[in-house]
Amino acid sequence: MRIELEGVTLGVEDHGEGVPVVLLHGFPLSSEMWTPIRTAVEQAARLITPDLRGFGGSDKPQGDYGMETHAEDVLRLADRLGLDRFVVGGHSMGGYVALRLAAGHAERLAGLILVDTRASADTPDGKVQRAIAIERIRRGEAAAFLDEFVPNLLGQSSHKRAPKLATELRGVAAEVPDHVLAGCLAGMRDRPDSTAVLARLDVPALVLVGQEDTIAPPEVAHTMAAALPRARLALIPLAGHTPSVERPIPTAEAILAFLRESFPPPPLTIKPRRG
Ligand code: MLT
Repeated sequence: MRIELEGVTLGVEDHGEGVPVVLLHGFPLSSEMWTPIRTAVEQAARLITPDLRGFGGSDKPQGDYGMETHAEDVLRLADRLGLDRFVVGGHSMGGYVALRLAAGHAERLAGLILVDTRASADTPDGKVQRAIAIERIRRGEAAAFLDEFVPNLLGQSSHKRAPKLATELRGVAAEVPDHVLAGCLAGMRDRPDSTAVLARLDVPALVLVGQEDTIAPPEVAHTMAAALPRARLALIPLAGHTPSVERPIPTAEAILAFLRESFPPPPLTIKPRRG
């Protein structure tokens, strides 16, 4: 479905019952990255997966693509869906957005899921690389940029085992307009450091990471899990930066186990038969 918010309309999938879980996709993907784990996670939750502005079935306006803008969209979406408190989760750029939401509106969080992401800001060299990429896109070299960038979303094992995955992700990335690519790169470059936010988030948290991730490697996940007051860490073997598409079964199992333990369903009450 499409949900109209102030100034932007987002494409959103919303299925299942139980604790509301809003999962945010990474760059330059869409909510399609959650498709392989959707049915499993919906056994334990109401799973809401928006396309962030600029991606998938959402509007792609000109203008700001900062992490705070995406976070405000997510908050407005939660308001429109009548969610008071919810679990927010994000993959990579989606994690940056989730942490900005947590920074400004911790009272809305029932839980947190961080997937192959980091709380720290870009390093000075990282900022330079973002600027170079933005410049390439402005020169009309978005396709060449994506040809280099997208393979890094997968681990070496996935490249060997399932070479078509890279082509599929490249196909999703090809749908993203140049102004959105450049806008999000600038938004990621300019995002503040969210490290100090972690210690304040006294909610159940899952930090999940592919063991072969080179963009947000397992050491980063370990550090975030140690800084969060109530976190568990899940390492997904034979996966790189995008475990939900590389190893959907162990990824779904880790998320399900976290949700079932942290948000157990109310016990079934069996009414005695009369007569
Ligand atoms: C992502 O997967 O969302 C991006 O790789 C994040 C980044 O470039 O920092």
